Amino acid sequence: MPDNMETWRDKITHRDQQEEKNNNNIIPLLTPYKMGSFNLSHRIVLAPLSRMRSYDYIPQPHAILYYSQRTTEGGFLISEASVVSETGRGYKHTPGIWTKEQVEAWKPIVAEVQAKGGIFFCQLLHAGRISNRDFQPNGKAPISYSDKPLKNQPNGGFNAAEFTPPRRLRTGEIPQIVNDFRIAARNAIEAGFDGVEIHGANGYLIDQFLKDQVNDRTDQYGGSLKNRCPFALELVEAVANEIGADKIGLRLSPFADYLDCGDSNPEALGLYMARALNKYNILYCHVIEPRMIKAQQEKCDGPDGTLLPMRKAFSGTFIVSGGYNREDGNKVVGEGHTALVAYGRWFLANPDLPRRFEINAPLNKYDRATFYTHDPVVGYTDYPFYESL
Ligand SMILES: Cc1cc2nc3c(=O)[nH]c(=O)nc-3n(C[C@H](O)[C@H](O)[C@H](O)COP(=O)(O)O)c2cc1C
Repeated sequence: MPDNMETWRDKITHRDQQEEKNNNNIIPLLTPYKMGSFNLSHRIVLAPLSRMRSYDYIPQPHAILYYSQRTTEGGFLISEASVVSETGRGYKHTPGIWTKEQVEAWKPIVAEVQAKGGIFFCQLLHAGRISNRDFQPNGKAPISYSDKPLKNQPNGGFNAAEFTPPRRLRTGEIPQIVNDFRIAARNAIEAGFDGVEIHGANGYLIDQFLKDQVNDRTDQYGGSLKNRCPFALELVEAVANEIGADKIGLRLSPFADYLDCGDSNPEALGLYMARALNKYNILYCHVIEPRMIKAQQEKCDGPDGTLLPMRKAFSGTFIVSGGYNREDGNKVVGEGHTALVAYGRWFLANPDLPRRFEINAPLNKYDRATFYTHDPVVGYTDYPFYESL
C-alpha cells in the first residue's frame, strides 16, 4: 500500500467515524451530480482499468461479476480500454469492440451494470506504436504518427524491445483511423453502453499525435499545436456525428510522458484542447493529474491546481484522475476544482469503494502482481467487500 494512504488510514479513529455518522455529514464525493442527461448519485467514478482477461480480444462472462461488483445505483463506470480495430491492438487479452462477436460478448456485461443502476461508458483505444508485429494483421509493423520507435525504456514494467518500430501513417490513411473510431463507437452503443470515452491519453495513438516531443510529421497533422490537435478533434467530431456529443468523453494526459510521450508545453496543450473541445459540446473531459507523470506512481503530493485552467476553460463536465484518496477527492470536489474524480487502483481493490468512503472504512490493499494476469477470479473478483470482512 502506498505510504500516503497508510498514513491517512492510520489517522482514522473510531471516534471520527462515529462523529461523521452522528453529524450525518455528506462528504463532497457522495453528493449527487447531473452530467448531461445522466443523474449521478455520487462523484466516485470507476477509472478505465485494463485487466487483460478478455481472451483473444473477446470480453468474457467473468467481467459481468467484476463490473457488477463495482456498480452502484447512479454510479458512473468507464470500461477498460477496448480496441477499435485490428491495427489498434497492443496487448494480449484486451477486449475489442470492432467485431459482431465482441459486441455480443459485451452485451450481458453492460446489461448487468445497467440493471444495478450504473451508467457505463466504453473506453475506445488505438495503441498506435505501443504494439508489435504479433498483434498486427499479417505481421505488419504497427501504425503510428511517425516511424520513430520508443526511445526510452517505458515505465510500468514493459520492455521497449517488445514494441516493433512503427510505420508512419500516410496522410490519406488518417480518415480510415477516424472511421474505425466512429464504427467502434456505434458498436459500443449497439452493445448497450451509455456512451464512449475516447482514449487520448497515456502515450497511445491519439497522444502520439498530440505531443510535440514525439510528433515529427511534416504534413498538416504535425508541427504547431494547431496542427497536432486536429487528429483528436476530427475523431471527436466523427464520433459525435455518429452517436451524439452528449455521449462522449475524451481522456487526456497533457502532463504525462508515459510511454515516451511528452510535451514541452503541457499547459498550452491542455488549455488548447479544453477550449477546442467546447466547439463539439462533448459531455466530459477526463484529465490525468500532472503528479501521475510516472505510470502507476505510488506516492503523490496533493493536487496542486495545475488542471484548474483546463477545468475553467472547458464547458462540460470535468473529471480528474491520478493518485486520489478519499481526502484529496473530497477536497477537489469540495473546492469546485472538478465535478468528478476517477479512482483506479483503489477501485480495483475495493469493489465497494463508494461505501467505504461513506463510512470512512479502511481500504483493501491492491495487489500489483495480479493487475494484468489472466486469471478470471484471482486479483479480479476476489477482493472482499468491507461488510464481509
Ligand atoms: C491495472 C491498471 C490498468 C489501467 N488501464 C487503463 C486503461 O485501460 N485506460 C486508461 O485510460 N488508463 C488505464 N489505467 C490508468 C488508470 O485509469 C488511472 O488513471 C491510474 O491508475 C491513476 O489513478 P489511480 O491513482 O486512482 O490508480 C490503468 C491503471 C492500472 C493500475
